[in-house]
Amino acid sequence: MSQTAKGKAASAMGARVAVIGGSGLYRLEQHATVEYFPILTPFCAEPVQLALEHTSAGRAWFIPRHGVEHTLAPHEINYRANLWALHEAGVQRVIAINTVGGITEQMLPGTLVLPDQLIDYTWGREHTFNGGPQATDRHVDFTWPYDGAIGAVLQQSAHMLDLPLHKGAVYACTQGPRLESAAEIRKLLRDGCDIVGMTGMPEAALARELGLRYACLALVVNPAAGMGEGEISAEQMRQHLHAGIGSIRALLLAALPQLA
Ligand code: HPA
Repeated sequence: MSQTAKGKAASAMGARVAVIGGSGLYRLEQHATVEYFPILTPFCAEPVQLALEHTSAGRAWFIPRHGVEHTLAPHEINYRANLWALHEAGVQRVIAINTVGGITEQMLPGTLVLPDQLIDYTWGREHTFNGGPQATDRHVDFTWPYDGAIGAVLQQSAHMLDLPLHKGAVYACTQGPRLESAAEIRKLLRDGCDIVGMTGMPEAALARELGLRYACLALVVNPAAGMGEGEISAEQMRQHLHAGIGSIRALLLAALPQLA
């Protein structure tokens, strides 16, 4: 991060919360004023463009994980640069938005879910800051991958808005970018997974390594492979995403003042 950007980001006082947007969420609030802070990190020649959104619910940092034009596939995202940049900007709490497929019965399309566990099936991604001889704390605790206090705020906000929010689920993170086979989903079911997505890891673990409090808010946009009728339709996924994104925005804006 350049000194100027660092100074400016640091002076964005009070903005201690960040949202990492997934598919369909490229801005927190459509008409919010946005300031951009280019943050250089050791993980990319290009700076991460951190957006500071002045929303109706207060200020929050925002990163669209797939890029503003959705150009990055899950395995192409520079998770380390994103998390590092947020840490540099003084962020303490992160809400990650992820779209997922539903594996277990209750996880119907349209369901909003607050997972409390995850299993990582990804491979070949840069998944740690703790490599090399400089590493100090290689074995961070990850018993509970998601922050319960942020989850509680999201639950209260959902209650206030009368929005159903399913609490407690196991998130399977697969490599993608293709969707899974029906047999792969049956294996995930046997492993105890409830929902499946491609972007939850290594993000959650990198946040933990940096000491950031991190919660995931997931939206089910399709029955996972073999769990619905026929094949997975991109159009159906788009429709559920479109229908659910308003609820996600409302929930985030209701929760922000309690997390700032
Ligand atoms: N599998 C993996 N990732 C996903 C899915 C799915 O079915 N739906 C949305 N993201």
